[in-house]
Parts: sequence; C-alpha cells; structure tokens
Amino acid sequence: MGSIYSLRDVSLELPFGKNYRKILQNIHLDISAGKIYTIVGASGCGKTSLLRVMGGLTLASSGSVSYLSQSVKSPPPGVAFVFQDYASVLLPWRTVEKNVSLGIESKLSPAECAKRVKDAIALVRLTGRESDYPWQLSGGMQQRVQIARALATQPSVLLMDEPFAALDAMTKTGLQDELLKLRDQTGASIVFITHDIEEAIYLGDEVSLMQGPPGAIIERITIDLPSNKNQLDTRSLPQFLAYRKHIYDAIEDRK
Ligand SMILES: Nc1ncnc2c1ncn2[C@@H]1O[C@H](COP(=O)(O)OP(=O)(O)OP(=O)(O)O)[C@@H](O)[C@H]1O
Ligand SMILES: [Mg+2]
Repeated sequence: MGSIYSLRDVSLELPFGKNYRKILQNIHLDISAGKIYTIVGASGCGKTSLLRVMGGLTLASSGSVSYLSQSVKSPPPGVAFVFQDYASVLLPWRTVEKNVSLGIESKLSPAECAKRVKDAIALVRLTGRESDYPWQLSGGMQQRVQIARALATQPSVLLMDEPFAALDAMTKTGLQDELLKLRDQTGASIVFITHDIEEAIYLGDEVSLMQGPPGAIIERITIDLPSNKNQLDTRSLPQFLAYRKHIYDAIEDRK
C-alpha cells in the first residue's frame, strides 16, 4: 500500500520575542495505511509540534505536508487527534455517550450517530458506562472515552500525543493491547508519540527517533516482531531486547 501521509523537508519556526525559534528541521516522514508509527524523543525535542504540523493545527514554515496527495492547511477530514491531557478535552457536563458523539452529532443523522457512538464505545470496552459522567470514571476509562470520540469519526489516521503517559503501568499496557486490536479491526494508520522506548517498540511497525530542539528525526527503525503480541513474551524476545539496546545506544551516542 502506498503512502497516505507524506512530509517532505518540513521545518517550523515560531516567533519568540523579537526573534524566531527553530522548532523542527528537515523532517521527512511517510505513513502507510494500517501501520503504526511511533515517535520517541526527550521532553522538549519537538514531538507535539510535529504532530500539530501533521494534523494542520500549526502550519510548517517550509517544506510540504500532504494527506492523500492534498496539501494540509487545516485539520483534514479523516484525521483525528488524541491528546495527552484527557481531563481537559472531555466535557464534564456531558455523559460518556455525549462526549463520544461530540465530533459527529452535527454531521450525521441521529440514527447513524447513535450507531457510530455505540460501536466506538464497544471498541474501547466501555459498553454499560454510556450514562456516566467523565468524573465518575477512572483515568484510563476517561482516556478510552477520548479514544472512542476519535474512533467515532471513523478516521483513516489517528494522531496520538503521549496518550498513555499519565496512566499507571497496568492500565497503560492494557490500552496498548487494545490499540493494537483497534488497528487490526479498523485498518487505521496511527502516529503515536511517546517518551517510553519499550512502548514505542511494542506498538510500532516503525520507530522514529527524534532529537532536538530543533526537532529532527535522527533514525527510523523498522520493527519486525511476531504479530501475535503479548506483553510478557514479546518484551522478552531477543529481537525486542536488541531493538531496545539499539535505541538506547543511538540516543546515548548523540547526547
Ligand atoms: N508556540 C510556541 N512558541 C514558541 N516556542 C514553542 C511554542 N510551542 C513549542 N515551542 C517550543 O518548541 C520546542 C518543542 O516543543 P514541543 O511541545 O513540540 O516538545 P515535545 O517534544 O512535545 O515535549 P514534551 O515531551 O515535553 O511534551 C520547545 O523548545 C518549546 O519551548
Ligand atoms: Mg509534547
């Protein structure tokens, strides 16, 4: 399958006082359908900025960003975001169901909307909690509501910014496995930002290492692990440990 997203020589400068700050530099990235691309890098290296540029929330200063061969100037239909801070994107006065329908309720018939919401809630395993308010849910459940909202739009591409960073280890690994299943069920491409190297290897078909500022992709590593993943066995495989060592070394060498 060909590339559906393509970034060519993308750079970003943002005004800072009377000057400009170089945030991203010469980024090349291609995204194919149904694949998961993880991006790892230290705090402040430019990961969120890169995701914002991909999704058309910030415009690149130079280079090109295209989605389905169209230049990206604003968030394209078919592309959905999942932000790190789920608490601030869920509306506390809306139930789970009404939070999930937020992006589609004005665009679809009530019947179609209700079906999409029901399916998205089932995909993140929150069936039965439709009438809860966000503050009646655990953190992991709230993050699943945000993911369901993105899924209800039936996106071709999910742009996820450290979506599991604030969660405890058990919730996090559970959601990682759910995300792999979601990709298999929906065929969506996923760009997933993390600073957790093991998470990047476990989820990714390709891991991009980012360094900055200014943010640059210093290496792209194709991950070839058995597809029937399992938290304990996959993470103990010699190939998994070799990827982990390679990435740690690559980061250490460039410090
Ligand atoms: N609007 C802005 N104006 C000026 N500088 C900015 C702006 N937004 C981000 N930056 C700078 O861009 C750099 C990259 O920020 P970004 O949020 O992309 O990093 P990040 O890799 O996502 O970090 P973290 O892991 O902490 O979330 C930082 O030096 C930041 O100060
Ligand atoms: Mg960030």
